[in-house]
Amino acid sequence: MQLKNAVVFITGANRGLGRAFAQAALAAGAAKVYAAARDAASVDLPGVVPVTLDVTDAAQIAAATAQCGDVTLLINNAGISQSAGSLATGAIDVARRHLETNVFGLWSLTQAFAPVLQANGGGAVLNVLSVLSWVTLPGSAPYSVSKAAAWALSNGLRAELRSQGTQVTSLHVGYMDTDMTRGLDAPKSAPADVARLALAQLETGAFEVLADDISRQVKQSLSGATPAYAG
Ligand SMILES: NC(=O)c1ccc[n+]([C@@H]2O[C@H](COP(=O)([O-])OP(=O)(O)OC[C@H]3O[C@@H](n4cnc5c(N)ncnc54)[C@H](OP(=O)(O)O)[C@@H]3O)[C@@H](O)[C@H]2O)c1
Repeated sequence: MQLKNAVVFITGANRGLGRAFAQAALAAGAAKVYAAARDAASVDLPGVVPVTLDVTDAAQIAAATAQCGDVTLLINNAGISQSAGSLATGAIDVARRHLETNVFGLWSLTQAFAPVLQANGGGAVLNVLSVLSWVTLPGSAPYSVSKAAAWALSNGLRAELRSQGTQVTSLHVGYMDTDMTRGLDAPKSAPADVARLALAQLETGAFEVLADDISRQVKQSLSGATPAYAG
């Protein structure tokens, strides 16, 4: 699908990668960008339409769908990340919270907007995943479990939405310079670069975007004798 004249709906668009997606969509010629956020007042980007949306809130999802019936591209970007060792007390509760936002939020939004996308000609869904869809580091189990599940879900959605002409694209990326990785001393991509690349590849019909070297290396290792997930 093309960004020119697209109507884009982005979850978690008030900061980080979501805000970068909103900027990149406007720069690519989108006709309208809905910037969804838990606190719509925190959306500070000129030229977008703020929408109140917690992706775990069914009533807010229904209201957003009713309000935004012209959407042609849904970007499931909202996500959380909290470190917890798999064996730590409370780790499963932490994982449940990740699943609510990173998986069931994405899932609910896609269910809600699928008929809208169909009515508007098919369009596309872009799911923000991670290199940690394929690798679990010490402390990343709750997040990795959620991003692996979101990867599996994205693959199922792609197969199911194909018949209505809706493209489903998954974005895998390593560390980006956002609040999520604040305090982490590691190489990080600029969210603006990742958003631009993802939208450009989405326009080519790509089913998957590998946004940085680490994502490309890990993906390539998956079928090797020592895949990255083996540790
Ligand atoms: N940063 C990285 O290194 C990295 C790497 C790979 C993938 N990702 C993924 O990239 C996406 C964006 O992350 P980011 O780096 O931009 O992180 P961020 O700066 O922490 O932003 C996260 C965004 O998600 C929103 N959000 C969280 N829970 C939500 C909910 N229940 N409903 C609606 N919005 C919610 C936040 O809203 P509030 O402002 O209300 O909290 C915020 O807008 C996430 O899916 C993340 O997993 C990030």
